[in-house]
Amino acid sequence: MKKVYLYKGYERFWHWSQSVLVFILIVTGFEIHSSYSLIGFENAVRIHNITAWTFLVLTVFTIFWDFTTDEWKQYIPTSKNLKAQISFYLSGIFKNAPHPAGKTISSKLNPLQRLVYLGIKVFVFPVMFLTGFLYYFFHYPVQGIELSSLEVIAVLHTRGAFAVVAFIIVHLYLITTGRTVTSNLKAMVTGWEEIEEHETKHIEEEIMAETKTLIRNAGEKSGRRKLRKAKEAVAEIV
Ligand code: HEM
Repeated sequence: MKKVYLYKGYERFWHWSQSVLVFILIVTGFEIHSSYSLIGFENAVRIHNITAWTFLVLTVFTIFWDFTTDEWKQYIPTSKNLKAQISFYLSGIFKNAPHPAGKTISSKLNPLQRLVYLGIKVFVFPVMFLTGFLYYFFHYPVQGIELSSLEVIAVLHTRGAFAVVAFIIVHLYLITTGRTVTSNLKAMVTGWEEIEEHETKHIEEEIMAETKTLIRNAGEKSGRRKLRKAKEAVAEIV
């Protein structure tokens, strides 16, 4: 078994702050929806709106981070191992079969995760932001957005909320299906993931190949920055 540094500091900060913010949006959102009464409607609306703005700022910052670090490439969909991953979740997982898609630093997500996370990033959350802000600015302030009815917006926002809840339930279950029940959770807390020795070969090969290319390109404009990044990545592997 080897430990590999897979999740960078900002990535973990984003993961956990996003979890807390989405949790608050769900709890307050369903109070606004009148599903229960915990802190009162007005408090729920106030906290929901503050949390939504915080989430928006953090999301914009993270999009910037994703593009400046090339991390956005983690979400490019691929059909490689897709069928194997689906059959793993349908049957292999119950027979202790090995995970079909190994993790590497530049490919941390399996093909199904890539599809689902991309869908959430480019579809579910944008719909939540758009409908949420239309809700927020509807008839207010005085010069707010004028819409004939809030119905479509409210329905889309609520359906989106159910989609987010469904995702979280599946996500919480899948967290426990790593090498051990807590290994995925620990990795997202510490950044370090324990990986079978034979699996780390891909990671080492990937780093070596990238380092060679970067050394070759070191004279180019961005070569030096990239070379430093590769050196850091090599140092992160023990
Ligand atoms: C994961 C993200 C979110 C979830 C799960 C969520 C959930 C909900 C739910 C369930 C409702 C009640 C809907 C209804 O009964 O019609 C609601 C209302 C609302 N949400 Fe969200 N929401 C999210 C993001 C946002 C965002 C980004 C905004 C932007 C400001 C926002 C603004 C609002 C507003 C203004 C209301 C209506 C409050 C009122 O009736 O005065 N939400 N939300």
